[in-house]
Amino acid sequence: MIYRLGEFHFPDAVARLYPDTAERPWALEIGFGDGRFWPQYAQTFGAAPNYLGVELSGVSLLKAARRLTQAGLSNAHLTKLPATPLLREVVPAGALSQIIVNFPDPWPKAEHEDHRLLRADFFRLAASRLQVGGAVLLTTDHDEYFDFACHEAEKSGVMRVERAEAPAAAAHTKYALKWQGLGLSAQHARFVATSQPDYPHTDIQPFPQDIADHLEDTRVPHAILERLPATLTFDDLFAHFQRQTQRGTGTEPYTVVLLDAYRSLRRDEFTVLAHVVEGELTQEVLVNVTQREGGTVLVRLGKFGGPIITPAVKAAVGTLTDWLVSQGAKVQHLGY
Ligand SMILES: C[S@@+](CC[C@H](N)C(=O)[O-])C[C@H]1O[C@@H](n2cnc3c(N)ncnc32)[C@H](O)[C@@H]1O
Repeated sequence: MIYRLGEFHFPDAVARLYPDTAERPWALEIGFGDGRFWPQYAQTFGAAPNYLGVELSGVSLLKAARRLTQAGLSNAHLTKLPATPLLREVVPAGALSQIIVNFPDPWPKAEHEDHRLLRADFFRLAASRLQVGGAVLLTTDHDEYFDFACHEAEKSGVMRVERAEAPAAAAHTKYALKWQGLGLSAQHARFVATSQPDYPHTDIQPFPQDIADHLEDTRVPHAILERLPATLTFDDLFAHFQRQTQRGTGTEPYTVVLLDAYRSLRRDEFTVLAHVVEGELTQEVLVNVTQREGGTVLVRLGKFGGPIITPAVKAAVGTLTDWLVSQGAKVQHLGY
């Protein structure tokens, strides 16, 4: 099954994701490409472990989903997300038996080293989500990245580096075949978690599925503003809308950009498109501004697009509220 970010729980539970096979080990594959690895690797177990695959490419996601279906692997889920927020927010502490990384993007230029996945902080996060004794399995053709990853794993202080033979299935991925065609050979390491460091989840919630329209709901970031000054009509507000940017610090620095405003077909509402970036996680969310009976104005995160409620999404509602206040509205209640 393909999961969208908003369909997960934060953190999720193995019994919810794999209700029929919850007792089996759980493996995460990062950057599964066109999905050739898991159907073959899963056969090396008596019963296929539960599987979660994460990938940035939407085309790859669909190809991999077809392969899982053809292989009859029903306890396998895929999602299109950056790996780190998925691992940090969705996977509970100590839940995984393996994290598989085959032929990660090597980012060979020195100035791009920050883009590499397998850095010390990733290994600390990985160790926190693995059972003690569980492992990150790396196969790569890129010798320099291999040495870099081994060094970073040691630096993390929570991983033991073991060099080993790659699983046979790792020799048959799309990139394995590509590099073999060029005469390159792969190296393999198991980074075994030696302890389980604390690596907290962020304050994230899914958008509640049961909210009533146009009522303030404490679970959804919102603000209620008193009536606008007599000199400013609701229509004026829409016409005056200007792009706003806000940056925030905290556990995860964020950027909110209010990109654009759209008039609703309903005369009493307009909607603002916000671009929200927190580390590797980017969301485009809608914030609705609704004129209510009695003259108050409700500013509320919209449900459209399945947003998840993060500190930066709350800040998007706050940024729009601040702008409305700058236009003369007065705050009655802040709920974010
Ligand atoms: C070189 S390809 C290898 C694909 C596949 N593992 C194989 O061996 O054929 C690297 C893959 O990792 C994915 N990727 C890169 N960074 C990622 C991230 N942060 N989270 C999830 N996937 C990522 C890319 O989209 C790409 O498909």
